[in-house]
Amino acid sequence: MKHAQSLPEPSADALEHSEKLIANIRKAIEANGGSISFKRYMEMALYEPGLGYYVAGTHKIGAQGDFTTAPQISPLFSQCIANQCAEVLNTINTENPSAQHKFQNRFYKTKTNCHSKVGGCILEFGAGTGIMAAQILLELEQQNCLPDSYYILDLSPDLQQRQKQTIEISAPHLLDKVIWISELPQHFSGVVLANEVLDAMAVDVFTQHEDIVYEHHVIWQDDALIEQLRPATETNPALQDRILRLNISKEATPYTSEINSHIEPWLKTITECIEKGLVLLIDYGYPRKEYYLAERNKGTLICHYQHLVNEAPLHHAGLQDITASVDFTAVAEATDNSDLEVAGFTSQACFLANTGLEDFFKQALENNPDNQYALAQQIRTLTLPAEMGERFKCMGLTKDYPHQLCGFKEFDQRYRL
Ligand SMILES: C[S@@+](CC[C@H](N)C(=O)[O-])C[C@H]1O[C@@H](n2cnc3c(N)ncnc32)[C@H](O)[C@@H]1O
Repeated sequence: MKHAQSLPEPSADALEHSEKLIANIRKAIEANGGSISFKRYMEMALYEPGLGYYVAGTHKIGAQGDFTTAPQISPLFSQCIANQCAEVLNTINTENPSAQHKFQNRFYKTKTNCHSKVGGCILEFGAGTGIMAAQILLELEQQNCLPDSYYILDLSPDLQQRQKQTIEISAPHLLDKVIWISELPQHFSGVVLANEVLDAMAVDVFTQHEDIVYEHHVIWQDDALIEQLRPATETNPALQDRILRLNISKEATPYTSEINSHIEPWLKTITECIEKGLVLLIDYGYPRKEYYLAERNKGTLICHYQHLVNEAPLHHAGLQDITASVDFTAVAEATDNSDLEVAGFTSQACFLANTGLEDFFKQALENNPDNQYALAQQIRTLTLPAEMGERFKCMGLTKDYPHQLCGFKEFDQRYRL
């Protein structure tokens, strides 16, 4: 991904769309006495109904969009994730004979409607183009290990449509396994997946100057949205407390960074619905000590526009992705008062190595020897430290699942959290 010197000019239609969103943002600023927090701005820029980046019709993910994610790069990624799902589904099934019983009944009743002999489901948050769902289902079918259902919960109506189309094309016979939901099921056992979802949650942006914490706000001035720093003691005292607890070195100040307050309530709702199984989180980020490094004093917030990275989140509101890296220590802490357990933490490269990347590569090569160069390139992108291999991390959280997870059997790095 290239860094942008300047951004390409959007089309007239896109600019008109952005103007509508900006009009709503201005109304929110006025209604709030002249400013809104950056977090509120980011929520509106990404998720304002009908207008936000993720809920309006731009292409977003893939070559014609703004950024590319691991499932677009290679099916090998989803196959490895499928292997981890298979292990958990099989274990749950072995422990729960009633799931098999359910299968047998269903199997004999309606042969066409039941591909499964495994109890347990998969629930994917923010499924993007749907390609990971399709590839996971195809791999699990190969392993004779399909879940009862594959739920997708995505805030984006247009991506839900795209997911349906992808699965119709790539795995039409498995479409009836997929259920789109708008809220979590009441009871759930199996695997919850979230690839690059946490980084798409709206974050608070702050600047600490010695002991004073400023919350970044957005105001409308001289016909433009601009950022304004306001003392957090006045705007958000709870934020000030949280930032001071991070113990950012005073020598490093002024220090600008982000903090994600959505993770804890999000995990809480998952904890309440999952009875047994794994929550697998994959995202770019760091353990806290590395996140708030003195050198990283400009934070991690970046934007993606037509495959160009920039640091201008107020630009092209609603037309570009805004994202911040994940503090994985904060994710681990969010499980502190819950029944979830941090069962593993490692880099994406190690997770993929643990879940059979080499075998899937060999198999793919055998099936198509002419594809060697492309496959090698895909593996490089997924695993090299300078590409996705180190920057992306995998974290496994389990509930009532006291078993080793294959994805973390080697190079488990929980000690870094
Ligand atoms: C960066 S995209 C990643 C898409 C996909 N997982 C992939 O890897 O290609 C982020 C996705 O997360 C979704 N999202 C963000 N917050 C969410 C939440 N709380 N619940 C469900 N989906 C969410 C967005 O709508 C978007 O589809």
